[in-house]
Amino acid sequence: MTFHKLTVSLQSRSYPIYIGSGLTRTSSAVELVPIMRGQNGVVVTNKTIAPLYLEQVQKWLHDAGYTNSAIILPDGEEYKNHETLLGLYQDMFAAGLQRNSFVCALGGGVIGDLAGYAAATYMRGVDLLQIPTTILAQVDSAIGGKNGVNMEGGKNLVGTTCQPRVVISDVDFMKTLPEREILSGLGEVLKYGLLAGDDFISFLEMNKSEILARDPRSLATMIHYCSRIKADYVVRDEYDRLGVRAALNLGHTVGHALEKMYAYKQFTHGEAIAIGSAAALMFANETKLLADTALQRALQLFSDFGLPMQIPEEVDIDKMIEIMGRDKKAEDSLSMVLLHGLGDPHLEKNIDLSKLKNVLQKCKQLQL
Ligand SMILES: NC(=O)c1ccc[n+]([C@@H]2O[C@H](COP(=O)([O-])OP(=O)(O)OC[C@H]3O[C@@H](n4cnc5c(N)ncnc54)[C@H](O)[C@@H]3O)[C@@H](O)[C@H]2O)c1
Repeated sequence: MTFHKLTVSLQSRSYPIYIGSGLTRTSSAVELVPIMRGQNGVVVTNKTIAPLYLEQVQKWLHDAGYTNSAIILPDGEEYKNHETLLGLYQDMFAAGLQRNSFVCALGGGVIGDLAGYAAATYMRGVDLLQIPTTILAQVDSAIGGKNGVNMEGGKNLVGTTCQPRVVISDVDFMKTLPEREILSGLGEVLKYGLLAGDDFISFLEMNKSEILARDPRSLATMIHYCSRIKADYVVRDEYDRLGVRAALNLGHTVGHALEKMYAYKQFTHGEAIAIGSAAALMFANETKLLADTALQRALQLFSDFGLPMQIPEEVDIDKMIEIMGRDKKAEDSLSMVLLHGLGDPHLEKNIDLSKLKNVLQKCKQLQL
């Protein structure tokens, strides 16, 4: 079995990420899971993923000597809250979890964030294994230790940063992922392409058909690229306090506003980020930061992968800009991550709002 391995280097909190096909089926957890404090734990997953992969992952852990039971949560972002978390703590207690037990998060970003937060706080912290099952979770949420729950007032308002002991990204999980979730994950992947530049963009251009056909080898290479990029940002700014990770918010200023305007019901996160990235590209081009050729190449990539780029006609742009101002990532004035070239992101402060308004209007007609 061949797989990619990389290390998130954070001194005593360092951990490996494994990426490959069949990792939780044909490889041994003895080889992949680092020595943990104890041999007993729980696998936390949801009702959709449990019938697909729970037995496989429980067996994989059992075969390596890790006894484990399962906790199955309901499926959906609406359950990423304190009520579910409280139930999860109670189930963990009922399962006999001790200070030296482990939690294995098997699922997308919702399960990863919930189980990650529970692991970080139960008995002041137990070991966490991340087994992400969506593209978004494999390239983003499972790496970096951020976890948390939503509150009435907004998403991810409560949480901690607590690194996992290992991330196991088995690309075979993608076989059952709904098409729309694949596309949503690809929105984030292409954002990484814009951040990384020519090498990764060329890979995406040349392997588009294989990726869309879910070819395991191409998926593994793609996820490896993204994981390296995410891990690099995490290593440089583990607690997101130095501003280094701001670049990862490319496309998020407009994307978040769009998600909020539609109450998170119209667009998946990745779709919103694709539209937001296109808007950021257009704005950088209009303000002479980004060359026409770079703009065309980037937009072509989004179009080739079937990701949306246009802001819907009915969107009130003034309202959108107002929402951007209220976004928790906007400090005193409106900031946006803009590319000065492919692979060259900069956080630009004091964005000219009248120019932005014009560009966002143009994005309603955006076509290649
Ligand atoms: N912690 C972080 O750094 C971070 C970063 C980005 C996003 N997030 C969070 O991640 C969440 C979104 O994650 P997501 O996009 O993975 O969504 P998700 O966890 O809701 O998963 C999407 C859907 O796919 C299903 N699913 C998952 N894997 C499957 C598989 N292999 N086969 C079939 N169905 C499968 C899920 O049950 C769910 O219905 C949000 O809550 C967001 O806030 C966290």
